[in-house]
Amino acid sequence: MCGIVGYVGREEAAPILLDGLSRLEYRGYDSAGVAVYGKEAGMQVAKAKGRLQVLCDQIQGGNILHGAIGVGHTRWATHGAPSDVNSHPQVSENGRFAVVHNGIIENYAELREFLQSEGVQFVSDTDTEVAAQLLEYYYQGNLLEAVERTLHTIRGAYALGILCADCPDRLIAARKDSPLILGFGAGAHYLASDVTALIKYTREVCWLDDGEIAELTADHLWVYDAYLRPVEKEHRHVDWEISAAEKGGYEHFMIKEIMEQPEAIRKTVSPRIRDGRVVLDDWQLTVRELEEMDRLYIIACGSSYHVGVAAKYILEKLLRKPVEVTLASEFRYCDPIVSERTLALVISQSGETIDTLAAMREARRLGAKVVSIVNVVGSTIARESDSVLYTWAGPEIAVATTKAYSTQLAVIYLIGLYCADLLGTLDRTEYDAILSELQRVPDKLEEILKDREDIQYFASLYFNRPSMFFIGRNLDYAVGLEGSLKLKEISYIHSEAYAAGELKHGTISLIEPGTLVVALAGCGPLFEKTVSNAVEVKSRGADVLGLTTRDRAADLSRTADDVISIPETHPMLLPSLAVVPMQLFAYYTALQRGCDIDKPRNLAKSVTVE
Ligand code: M6R
Repeated sequence: MCGIVGYVGREEAAPILLDGLSRLEYRGYDSAGVAVYGKEAGMQVAKAKGRLQVLCDQIQGGNILHGAIGVGHTRWATHGAPSDVNSHPQVSENGRFAVVHNGIIENYAELREFLQSEGVQFVSDTDTEVAAQLLEYYYQGNLLEAVERTLHTIRGAYALGILCADCPDRLIAARKDSPLILGFGAGAHYLASDVTALIKYTREVCWLDDGEIAELTADHLWVYDAYLRPVEKEHRHVDWEISAAEKGGYEHFMIKEIMEQPEAIRKTVSPRIRDGRVVLDDWQLTVRELEEMDRLYIIACGSSYHVGVAAKYILEKLLRKPVEVTLASEFRYCDPIVSERTLALVISQSGETIDTLAAMREARRLGAKVVSIVNVVGSTIARESDSVLYTWAGPEIAVATTKAYSTQLAVIYLIGLYCADLLGTLDRTEYDAILSELQRVPDKLEEILKDREDIQYFASLYFNRPSMFFIGRNLDYAVGLEGSLKLKEISYIHSEAYAAGELKHGTISLIEPGTLVVALAGCGPLFEKTVSNAVEVKSRGADVLGLTTRDRAADLSRTADDVISIPETHPMLLPSLAVVPMQLFAYYTALQRGCDIDKPRNLAKSVTVE
């Protein structure tokens, strides 16, 4: 959720911190702050409610703060409304400690009460202030000891960046259940929630693991376990291009990322096809384990969960094994039936979503093997899985996911084909047909994207409808779920996705003149059934925007007011094509409505609190 950065080196810290925060703003953007320590100026703290720009203006791009060490934060409020005082860094009563934090300190109320009974005065409503005040409470001249005691006292999730006025040459970083990355520069070290904040400065990084503490100076970096015993860390080289995290001439990251989808799918799929076969080098499960698999759980949240819904249809068809798709936040608490023969397939763009991570850990604890589909290399989910299949989508910055969804889906096809091949559940002709269509997806997406003005036109017709429904059957239903979520996320229009056949069992009562129903009728054999459901809503006054393949567009236009047509493909591959007009429709609708597309209200890209 929140983004944190830290720098210690020889340059002025503030501009570096602000630059890092500008790349993390998608993690939270209701307020921001920095603390910088300088020899003459001492501890300087600046915080402001609102977007990062407000803070930047207030401190003149960082030019009025002086010192070569500091921490910064961009906030997604949990405890306490967005305000200057609740912004981070939170500072201890006497100003010795400045703390930035991502996560939730669960026992903050009792600790706050305890500290108050000891005479400590609190100024904010945040859980983070408890950490700053505790550090001060335990501090007796040894910084690491105070950190160790504080971390043993707080419960919950945290990534922390700590600056102490008594030790102005070093930063402290600590993590539990919230991501934290350390960067190695020339005469400088960095910390950040996400590698995108670092790649301008260094490609050499390491990930802190749960319970670890790091001590950073300009020239050295030490990592310790929770009891301050030294830990050796492996350096990793990150090869994401800095340009991938910039808008490159587009108005928004979201449209840039929509346009990047053909290339992202090519990069994800091509290296995994050799001699007409899918080869998954990263797949660790044996044929025997696959044969003995009793069930496959797909675990994810949000859009990744919607990929899971499509995956259930695809994998059950290809593997003839029971597949259950479950929301990570539900899986954890539903006493799931898991055995050593169970496979958990975990899907996450960020690899840090706390609900998904916790569900994955629960599945493992119960004996399941875990395969994950992740975009961020080295993220916690990737590191804790038995096998990880990366989506090579590059950094995704817009809060509403697009290219991560598409590449996750591409990996599902690869897994389906690969496992079907191992299990012998798919005949060669069908295998070849699906694989060759999968390879054609990028070209077909380019055709769809070339005609994006058609979708913009439809958005201009319907952008002011108060409510929209997305209906479809089977894989079209899965695409409808994602189309509806995209629209809700960025345009704030009320919307629901329904299995087309289920609408008449209750929800059809909401259809009235002026309601827009997006009818997804791509899926081969179910085309007529969905058209019948579109007729039902039309008879009740709804306007229908249909989506189907080019060969059926004329048919659908007999019922629908407007029709989006996409290239023909194998029916199983239709979601890969159909989702893109849905993304564009949401994007152009939000654009018409003047919404803040890349930073929609109340949302954050990486959801690291439960
Ligand atoms: O990083 P993850 O894929 O685990 O994130 C899961 C959801 O939070 C994410 O898909 C969310 O729904 C996005 N905002 C979708 O646009």
